[in-house]
Amino acid sequence: MNHEQILIAPSILASDFAAFGAEARRAQDDGADWIHLDVMDGHFVDNISFGPAAVAAIAKHTTLPLDVHLMIQRPDHFLPRFLAAGARHVLVHVEPAAQHDVRQTLAAIRAAGCLAGLVINPPTPFAALEPYWGQFDTLLVMTVNPGFGGQAFLPETMEKVAAARAQRTARGLQFHIQVDGGINAETAPLAREHGANVFVAGTSVFHAPDMAAAIRALR
Ligand code: DX5
Ligand code: ZN
Repeated sequence: MNHEQILIAPSILASDFAAFGAEARRAQDDGADWIHLDVMDGHFVDNISFGPAAVAAIAKHTTLPLDVHLMIQRPDHFLPRFLAAGARHVLVHVEPAAQHDVRQTLAAIRAAGCLAGLVINPPTPFAALEPYWGQFDTLLVMTVNPGFGGQAFLPETMEKVAAARAQRTARGLQFHIQVDGGINAETAPLAREHGANVFVAGTSVFHAPDMAAAIRALR
């Protein structure tokens, strides 16, 4: 795990839902590092996307790591199904509304040999992360309120990105810092300056006239 490495993770949520396989392959061919999959249950967020069956179908079309972002209640309950579907990274929310034992879920993800991710929403205080330092391999700082693609980047979230980098140094830890929401060639450099190294991008990649150029621009 090298947190100096810049990684681009296109979010399949912005792709053609009737062509997930081809869209994942297109992202891989055009230079993506990971494929980001946004799973939404209509409870934790006010939208419904797709579940483990779609993850398993996409896994057949790409060799890139599947970065599975669970915006659902009880991610611990559904974890075995996402692991069986081929998730390589599993990211779970720190907010109490997700209704799980965060420490145990992170440990279960690592025990499965996957990269464990913790996610924090814009309104959640940074201090919510306090019990979990050292227990995750990637920290995803949401740069929009989750639920929908195509929203505007919230610059105030950069404070959390910088604070995460400071904690990582102070505690001598290793973890990626991811940003997700409204990431494009204008906002990615700002997130980079504050310490992010993994850039999740839906609209700016999948809706670009030239995906390879859009990924290069982010990088
Ligand atoms: C938001 C999701 C994001 C979303 C990003 O709920 O977690 O991954 O797909 O989409 P854009 O890049 O369009 O903001
Ligand atoms: Zn996401």
